[in-house]
Amino acid sequence: MDLATFRAQLDALRDQSLAAVASAATPDALAVVDTEVLGRKGALRALMAGIGAFPAEDRPQIGALANPVREAIEAAIAERRERLDSIALEVRLASEREDVTLPGRATWRGGLHPIRETEREIARVLGQFGFVVVDSPEVETDALNFEALNIPADHPARDLWDTIYVADPDETPTADAGSPRWLLRTHTSPGQIRAMRASQPPIRILTPGRCYRYEQVDASHGFEFFQVEGLMVDEGTSMATLRGLLDAFAHAMFGAGRPTRFRPGYYPFTEPSVAFDIQCVVCDGSGCPACGRTGWMTILGAGMVHPAVLANGGIDPERYQGFAFGMGTDRITMLRYGIRDIRAFLANDLRFVERF
Ligand code: PHE
Repeated sequence: MDLATFRAQLDALRDQSLAAVASAATPDALAVVDTEVLGRKGALRALMAGIGAFPAEDRPQIGALANPVREAIEAAIAERRERLDSIALEVRLASEREDVTLPGRATWRGGLHPIRETEREIARVLGQFGFVVVDSPEVETDALNFEALNIPADHPARDLWDTIYVADPDETPTADAGSPRWLLRTHTSPGQIRAMRASQPPIRILTPGRCYRYEQVDASHGFEFFQVEGLMVDEGTSMATLRGLLDAFAHAMFGAGRPTRFRPGYYPFTEPSVAFDIQCVVCDGSGCPACGRTGWMTILGAGMVHPAVLANGGIDPERYQGFAFGMGTDRITMLRYGIRDIRAFLANDLRFVERF
């Protein structure tokens, strides 16, 4: 080989190597180029191995030609490595970047069902007057749902509550099998008896919960619905106490100025009994379809606890008086939010329940 050929090969090796370095896309690819060109068994050494064939006086010149090529390739590799490293860093930074100006992602924590929310609001308002919430079972006895509440078997007042009875597999049929003992409570009033039997006056309790009636379901009736019962028993409790409490309740729930009224009502377990009305929340009293054009809406039934019911609760009716009231939680919720169909509450449509 002569010097010119050697130089040509050296130049070709340099050009190829520099091109390979420039196109190495990753640190690994670059390391391969490094070994293939500069390594112990690399192309540059292979070329240099041929210098033994040159005359001794040419050798310094050959070295002088080869060294800058080696240096150029080494420099190119070092520069390329730095560049690839900084690209890798940029890629990592870009992919790991947190944009601290983005709004936080809200975590959905679930929410209260509108019925539950109303129950809590009722308990909050009446809690300010000393009423505490107590629990009471949904499967009740005929004795507590009716008899202790002054509604004997076969009394026509039973027609007020279309009852769903529950078979008790352990019960041996008696002559009286026509009136089964277990039922789904038709109202929360049996909770009154339980509360009175559990403690002596003063008593101020609320028993919110689910009730059942054998009803044709429509926009304003469910066979499954909710009530909140209130009971206060103490010395000197009167209709005036009841009216004052219910007014404060209505004003807290439906606005401070809202007019209210008592109308005569009938319940076997209260005497006297009333219906408690508020001025229509839709038309403010002028008369509209929502209030049957009367300008008033009934929100609960109430009255002074019948002495026989106090006695059934183990309380001396000569010494104590009490009042009770019962309201439909569904109805109160519908009035608060302008909901037209009671069936929406138990339909479990998230588009509905998530709005509260
Ligand atoms: N329990 C009655 C009903 O379900 C409501 C009520 C409760 C009335 C307490 C008077 C006193 O219709």
